[in-house]
Amino acid sequence: MSISYLQEEKLFHLKTLNFSYVFQVSDAGYLKHWYAGPKLDSLEGLNALPYAKWRAFCTINAVDEPNEVEAPDVMLQEYGTFNVGDFRTPSFIIRDSDGFRATDPRYVSHRVLKGKTAIAGLPSSFGENAETLEILLEDPKTKVQFILLFSLFTDSDVMARSVKIVNNGAATICIEKAASFTMDFAPIESDLITFNGAWARERQFERARIRSGMQSIASDRGLSSHQNNPAFMIADQNATETQGNVFAFAFVYSGNFLAEIEKEQWGEIRVQFGLNPENFEWTLSHGEEFQTPEVLMCFSGEGFTKVTHSFHDFFRNHLIRSPWCMKNRPVLINNWEATYFEFNEEKLLKIAEKASELGVELLVLDDGWFGHRNDDCSSLGDWTVFQSKLPCGIGELSKKINALGMKFGLWFEPEMISPDSNLYKEHPDWCLHIPGRKRSLGRNQLVLDMSRADVRDEIFRQMTNLLDNANIEYIKWDANRHLTEVGSASFPGKQQGEMSHRYVLGFYELTERLLQRYPNLLIEGCSGGGGRFDAGMLYYVPQIWASDDTDAIERLRIQYGTSFIYPCSSMGAHVSASPNHQVHRTTPLQTRGNVAMEGTFGYELDLNKLSEEEQKLVAEQIRQYHRVHHLIEQGDLYRLSSPFTDSVTAWMNVSKDRGEFIVAAVKPVQTANTCPVVYIKLRGLDSLAVYENEAGIRISGSILMNLGYGFRLSGDASSEMLYFKRV
Ligand code: DGJ
Repeated sequence: MSISYLQEEKLFHLKTLNFSYVFQVSDAGYLKHWYAGPKLDSLEGLNALPYAKWRAFCTINAVDEPNEVEAPDVMLQEYGTFNVGDFRTPSFIIRDSDGFRATDPRYVSHRVLKGKTAIAGLPSSFGENAETLEILLEDPKTKVQFILLFSLFTDSDVMARSVKIVNNGAATICIEKAASFTMDFAPIESDLITFNGAWARERQFERARIRSGMQSIASDRGLSSHQNNPAFMIADQNATETQGNVFAFAFVYSGNFLAEIEKEQWGEIRVQFGLNPENFEWTLSHGEEFQTPEVLMCFSGEGFTKVTHSFHDFFRNHLIRSPWCMKNRPVLINNWEATYFEFNEEKLLKIAEKASELGVELLVLDDGWFGHRNDDCSSLGDWTVFQSKLPCGIGELSKKINALGMKFGLWFEPEMISPDSNLYKEHPDWCLHIPGRKRSLGRNQLVLDMSRADVRDEIFRQMTNLLDNANIEYIKWDANRHLTEVGSASFPGKQQGEMSHRYVLGFYELTERLLQRYPNLLIEGCSGGGGRFDAGMLYYVPQIWASDDTDAIERLRIQYGTSFIYPCSSMGAHVSASPNHQVHRTTPLQTRGNVAMEGTFGYELDLNKLSEEEQKLVAEQIRQYHRVHHLIEQGDLYRLSSPFTDSVTAWMNVSKDRGEFIVAAVKPVQTANTCPVVYIKLRGLDSLAVYENEAGIRISGSILMNLGYGFRLSGDASSEMLYFKRV
């Protein structure tokens, strides 16, 4: 890793392990992008190469700079201007005190700092073996400054970027848009890969050629959303798992976002990522500053697998702070799909007893234990035990669960409030709302105004009251609706545009406060399944419930899409009942286990209802999980085929030293009279080694990788999972 600056040519060269990023201060003081791609050994001769200049209908900046022939409209840039000649999507929009929106930041200075600083109030990557380039740009008229931050890490091909906007002028300004990342790709035919879906169908892989004009993914829902995940990739049109240039991007933020991919007149592509400007503005008085959330960019010259490995390693080493990150997570049982709201202590203990007998380590009590909640119509905001369901209280229940040799975990939805709750009766103005407008309900609930310190204090008080008085070692933090009427009773009208961002800042502050108090608490993120599955969340929690769809076959697609960016250990994945509650499919227990083992493993059903034979299989699955969990938590993932295009979905998790691995293959649908043995070529092994599976069969790495392994798959939803170790 290095950050160098060639003084004479004014060229910056940022180098990671395998990747170079080059840009230059232009004559007019713009940051002119030159290159992003496989590592360059030298920049010799770069300056002699021609660069796109003025053409018809490109404006040249300013009459008082007659010699300036740079046209910002066609120059590849690191951060765009606005309303002064660059007609592509702007990196920012600033409204000055006179109401004008035109800003033309130019280079002033730069410095290179050791390490990586945190962003106050926001999640961000960390690491001591890092360097940060800070480039100061300033708009000559308003004196608004933009500090572009580029951080590199010695052990990674990931670059972190964010922007600090400082009001260095005398007058107050208003930020209407502030992207964290802008980069203009030179013209090249590329594909855009995004991860989209809906509730219970999150992060479906979509690949399309980038066409002229604007393509975007976004959330304006207050949370990062089920609909578009805040991560995407730009890849060579022929890129595969093993070849081609791929750039992947992840936003370290859990609220509204906008990623813009704009193919312009000569085929150049502006890629921009940051806060969604919709319903956003931020006022800055003299001397104040605003820092955008961070964008992570990862480069691979060897296809998608390399991007996945780089991002997974980066997330594990530089983003997920939880002490659980690399540790064996307890195998859990969650009562949601076993009981929904209909449980009492006796029922829970029966579930727990059987679970403990079979080796489950943590019981998670889901929704319905508080206030008077028998359905989703009440009690959010009243975090006290529902006496008629659990007369002995949470403290006693946790003791009883502990006595069974299990940990105890509890579900919360801290950001929400039911109109039918004591909290709402006492504080009807504590939810997000706009005076004079109806308050839209989602799942019969409203959203608490997390921008308010008094609201956060009350929820913190209620949660800590429970956490201090019961042995709660895990919490599931849910959020089951999106934000509407985003307005706050505690801020003046002129600041209402800040509320979406202030909501997220407040949510982070509350989470941080809890983690400071309970550093070993294992928190599982959740938002109606995977509606807030993003890099920002992973700074606070090591795992996130991947989807409310627990059907193993549907999960193949959800987990496949998720796996491109996010580590396997961050995906909550459980075995649920068959027929499945979401899609009514019948799937063998074996396959449900094999698929769930790809993430943080658990059960979501009443194990008492299984046959004796199935219970034995559950015990075996748990033993198997313990044998292989380290491969899922710390190893490298190889996707061997795709659930979108191939008839069998297969993947592997291989230890870093290539000494052991698991491989799994699932055939969702059986077709008549097809070969019952499916050969799949394995990857990432030591070709000189011999591997042995649990049945004692020895096969060389080179056979496994070149001929493949023959899976016996017969029947709908059939599957096989094998564990191999180097002999
Ligand atoms: C949505 C979650 O994703 C489910 O697992 C469950 O916790 C329900 N909420 C409870 O309301």
